[in-house]
Amino acid sequence: MNAPTLDVYLKPNEMAEALRADVRTGLVAKPKCLPPKWFYDARGSELFEQITTLPEYYPTRTEHQLLERYSSEIAELTQTEILVELGSGSSEKTKRLLSAGVEHGTLHTYVPQDVSISALEGATEHIAEVFPGLTVHGVVSDFTESLHHLPGDGRRTVVFLGGTLGNMVADERSEFLSGIADVLSTGEHLVLGVGLVTDADVLVRAYDDSAGVTAAFNKNVLRVLNDSLGADFPIDEFRHVALWDAENAWIEMRLEATRDLDVQIADLDMSVSFAAGEQLRTEISAKFTIDGIRAELANAGFEMQRSWTDLDERFALISAVLS
Ligand code: AVJ
Repeated sequence: MNAPTLDVYLKPNEMAEALRADVRTGLVAKPKCLPPKWFYDARGSELFEQITTLPEYYPTRTEHQLLERYSSEIAELTQTEILVELGSGSSEKTKRLLSAGVEHGTLHTYVPQDVSISALEGATEHIAEVFPGLTVHGVVSDFTESLHHLPGDGRRTVVFLGGTLGNMVADERSEFLSGIADVLSTGEHLVLGVGLVTDADVLVRAYDDSAGVTAAFNKNVLRVLNDSLGADFPIDEFRHVALWDAENAWIEMRLEATRDLDVQIADLDMSVSFAAGEQLRTEISAKFTIDGIRAELANAGFEMQRSWTDLDERFALISAVLS
């Protein structure tokens, strides 16, 4: 077995500085907003893992089923030699794609990228053990930075799973997809897992479960601010809100102040007030149509080759090739 390697491209205070900047701008914005990436401290990641097992939260399990069924077709279609995964986390569901690539006989290298060193350390060790023939090269960085460090000694496929593309608004997606196109060569692939537009009730329930796990996940971001910036958000004075915005085709999660509140953020020398009923947007989770995602891919220079969906058409795997 080759020992896995890990390159760290995050500068020491980069994440902390990014959080400070996001809080400084987001909490004075009108309406107030925070980017969803701050959900995922250790507790938030744990809560997200719990979300993926909820009966109402179908995306993760649907994507798993699609990967189980279609990974060998994807290996055949893409002829992947190097699999680059953006936001790989635990790499758990990627195992299907990896074993299909190994069985197909083409795959020799896995490059998982994530912002979490601890997640990547665990994942690279585990994958290297399960796939002894595979070269495993982890990259700790943000998405854009990682694209500058892709190995070039083989046919590459970039995979971005879990529906996380939906956490970006259209302009951000366009920039993100074009950034991937810039570093790939003609004939190389992008494989996406995206949530599809479906019944509004089904969507809202997936983001407002009856056990209240998503509510706890949403509120956890306030604890992240309390812990890392010395803030004093009274977490129990906020209410979880999830709504379907049909016009933008996205789920929006918000935290609503249940009464007038004054919050101090000590480390930023900042105070923020909330009027009773005022909402802070914490996440958008856009849902797609196959035609819509085809058009977004085409704008970035990709041709959609194939898509696979579940019978309820709630989730899709998409294979696109750079033309
Ligand atoms: C992991 C970002 C794709 O948007 O569905 C789950 C996160 N938020 N429940 C999603 C999430 C609320 C999830 N992503």
